[in-house]
Amino acid sequence: MTTSETAPATEPATGTPGPPAAPGAPGTPAAPAVRASRDLAARARAVLPAAAYEFYAAGADEEISAGEAADAWRDRRLLPRVLRDVSSVDTGTELLGTRLASPVLAGPTAFHRMAHDEGETATAAGVAAAGSLLVLSSRATRHPEEVAAAAGPWWYQVYWLRDAEITRRQVERAVAAGARALVLTVDAPYVPPRATSGLPLPLPEDDELCRAVGVGTRLPGWEQDPSLGLDAIGRLHRMSGLPVLVKGVLRADDARACVAAGAAGVIVSNHGGRQLDRAVAPAEALPAVVAAVGDRVPVLVDGGVRTGTDVLVALALGARAVLLGRPVVWSLALGGAAGVTALLDSYRTQLSTAMALAGCARVADIGPDLLHGGA
Ligand SMILES: Cc1cc2nc3c(=O)[nH]c(=O)nc-3n(C[C@H](O)[C@H](O)[C@H](O)COP(=O)(O)O)c2cc1C
Repeated sequence: MTTSETAPATEPATGTPGPPAAPGAPGTPAAPAVRASRDLAARARAVLPAAAYEFYAAGADEEISAGEAADAWRDRRLLPRVLRDVSSVDTGTELLGTRLASPVLAGPTAFHRMAHDEGETATAAGVAAAGSLLVLSSRATRHPEEVAAAAGPWWYQVYWLRDAEITRRQVERAVAAGARALVLTVDAPYVPPRATSGLPLPLPEDDELCRAVGVGTRLPGWEQDPSLGLDAIGRLHRMSGLPVLVKGVLRADDARACVAAGAAGVIVSNHGGRQLDRAVAPAEALPAVVAAVGDRVPVLVDGGVRTGTDVLVALALGARAVLLGRPVVWSLALGGAAGVTALLDSYRTQLSTAMALAGCARVADIGPDLLHGGA
């Protein structure tokens, strides 16, 4: 695993084709020219079935939250430090005992086989090759054992379902397969209308899991339990023996309550703008959550993180790591496992460069003083 690199690093310009296949390796695909940027969605759109693209891209309702998350990172301005030794920059970090090449994780997103034939096994292999960590969605279209075989460190995302027995079986299976932590998603007691609701999704039909979670199937018991309360955190911990992070927290009081109920971490998120439209941008919500619980548990964040400089801003605001949603799906569609690796490598390279230019040799050097106007 790469945990350090010499800065400033460079990367191919957008659109630069990857190197040709190595001689003697017929059929080896060229490394995909995938990099952290805002144009990934448009490029993925060109290669995906329309319904799949719409499903991944959609936000809830008027798509206000989905549209403004990225701008909230871009709106922040930095106060770089100078004359610090940045001859070597280390983007490596540790999260709940796991060493990572950078504080950029692949967050949980559903139905990867709509983006690529291999689905989550390709995602897992791509993430592992980049030295990162995958949060496997409980709406995955590959079985956890298959994903685990391809993965490096991974966590399992949980929706607590109306049929709690299904939840228990899913969790036990993930634990047996080697998940290192659970991520309980709490911002989705119901799923609101989205642009694509009702469109027939191109899910593979041969898979029992796909049928079970497939939109439109609506099997009884597979919906999220809307009566869920704080006690779910302790129940999940006792059921699994694993640390439980809570995903979908935007308020300081909720973060405090989750930690008091046993949460091992909090993920500031509005679900990529797919749940309550007009929910505040994660970049705006992050500082209050960090102030409330950041000294006790790691606070992570996702939503609209599109460049390495966005990551720097998130860390300066107090996040320990960021998660990527759509960019991982787009890179999977564009280049399979190699596309996912290229994406994560690109975030790491961009972060390394931004850290060097901001006068930070290590992740621990990043602090709120880097933000013009403060956190
Ligand atoms: C297509 C799609 C599927 C998602 N599926 C899940 C899921 O199964 N579980 C979950 O906790 N969050 C899910 N999310 C939310 C993401 O984990 C994450 O919060 C969000 O996508 C981050 O925003 P970004 O896409 O701007 O990076 C999904 C998001 C998208 C776009």
